[in-house]
Amino acid sequence: MSFTHIGALILAAGKGTRMHSPVPKVLQPLLNEPMLGYVFDAAVPVCGERVWTVVGHQEELLRKAFPGRQSTFVTQDKQLGTGHALQVAWPELKKAAITHVLVINGDTPLLNEAILRDFLFTVAETKADIAFITLTRIAPGRLGRVVRKNGRVAAIVEAKDFDVTLHGAETGEINAGIYCLDMKAVEDLLPELKNTNKSGEFYITDLIGLAVDRGLSVVGDDFGDDPQLLGINTPEELVRSEEFLRERIVTEHLQNGIFIRNPGQVRIGPRVTIARGVEITGPCEILGRSALAPGSSVAPFCCLYDVELAEGARVLSFSHLERACLGPGAGAGPYARLRPGAVLEQEAKVGNFVEVKKTVLRKKAKAGHLTYLGDADIGEGANIGAGTITCNYDGANKHRTVIGKGAFIGSNTALVAPVTIGENAVVGAGSTITQPVPENSLGIARQRQKNLPWKKKKD
Ligand code: UD1
Ligand code: CA
Repeated sequence: MSFTHIGALILAAGKGTRMHSPVPKVLQPLLNEPMLGYVFDAAVPVCGERVWTVVGHQEELLRKAFPGRQSTFVTQDKQLGTGHALQVAWPELKKAAITHVLVINGDTPLLNEAILRDFLFTVAETKADIAFITLTRIAPGRLGRVVRKNGRVAAIVEAKDFDVTLHGAETGEINAGIYCLDMKAVEDLLPELKNTNKSGEFYITDLIGLAVDRGLSVVGDDFGDDPQLLGINTPEELVRSEEFLRERIVTEHLQNGIFIRNPGQVRIGPRVTIARGVEITGPCEILGRSALAPGSSVAPFCCLYDVELAEGARVLSFSHLERACLGPGAGAGPYARLRPGAVLEQEAKVGNFVEVKKTVLRKKAKAGHLTYLGDADIGEGANIGAGTITCNYDGANKHRTVIGKGAFIGSNTALVAPVTIGENAVVGAGSTITQPVPENSLGIARQRQKNLPWKKKKD
């Protein structure tokens, strides 16, 4: 057996009823990445392009989540069980030049490449017709029981169908839901699967008993109690697996020389990249494809999704950033909200209660307090006073605001877009600006102050 002749089949068509969620189980996120993505991350390095997925329940959502994998999805119209899923995909697998197929339950996201390679090593060594991974659990719960006779695998019996009088005492050994099948050996067994069990489903696990009956070689490869091999069926299992993964990722970053203080309360996604020496203090979450350059820092109570921090950029407490980018030495917060398309160039600063969307603040531009900047271009060194609002939306369309280099916008100004403020222009506080302000001019648009005679009534 050589690795080039191995394909993988991921089973992901099931309903996931026990999750009690409208989101398909295999799309449930762990650290903001869908469960199924982790399984691809484990299988693709081993099997390359030869990775197929059986989909069915809410298939359109799965297809949408993985547009690049369209051609490798096989539809199982009715979810009649894991054995049926394999039967449905079989013709597709046969078309490929593979000798073995690695079948993986799509709800096992903590699995990784190393585990798969370790397992395939055993398969190659034992030359098994069917091999599968087993675990030993103190509480085997609803998992499939591995039944052995004289140490040799005899069958896998699903929890519902397990009967001590028929199958012997519980040993705690269970089926992890990862199998390696010799295509030729299994071909004849497939049509023999029956659904005469308590669930009325076609079980892939029945292949084991069938193979043993025919004298094929079947190996249960014992992985002890490795929690990375546990399937996820319930919210509790999801959250516990996510916590396991979280800790694994944070530990890796700590070992790579990143200062993560209060590490138990820091959530970092698997695709985040962080340079050595970066300072992160929990509680906080840094997810998606965020990238943190040397010297950058994230203070407590911040959420970052797909955020880029250049060298020395700082995110201060209680800030929420999504698809935003901070240039070298730029700063956001405390209490900043950077929405998609917010770009702070070198040393630009955004302070408390400032919301920024689809807006560039050029070098050293500042918006210190209580401001909304949407669809705007803020020139180099411009200063945006407290309470400035870009009125970018007229109820139908969004319009742009362009503020020139060195401009100064007085406090409590409404900039009614589309509008342009020239270089080095000044806007008087409290103005509602609807016309362009040319460069080097002062624009004021508010009632001139009147002082009228007034006498306070005596009481
Ligand atoms: C399965 C195994 C069980 C094992 C456990 C490990 C069977 C019959 N039982 O049980 O022995 O201990 O995994 O976690 O296989 N699926 C389809 N089509 C279907 C039904 C399911 O694609 O018609 C997919 C599901 O989306 C899921 C995977 O197969 O990703 C496993 O199905 P699930 O219902 O979770 O099986 P378990 O009851 O956990
Ligand atoms: Ca399962």
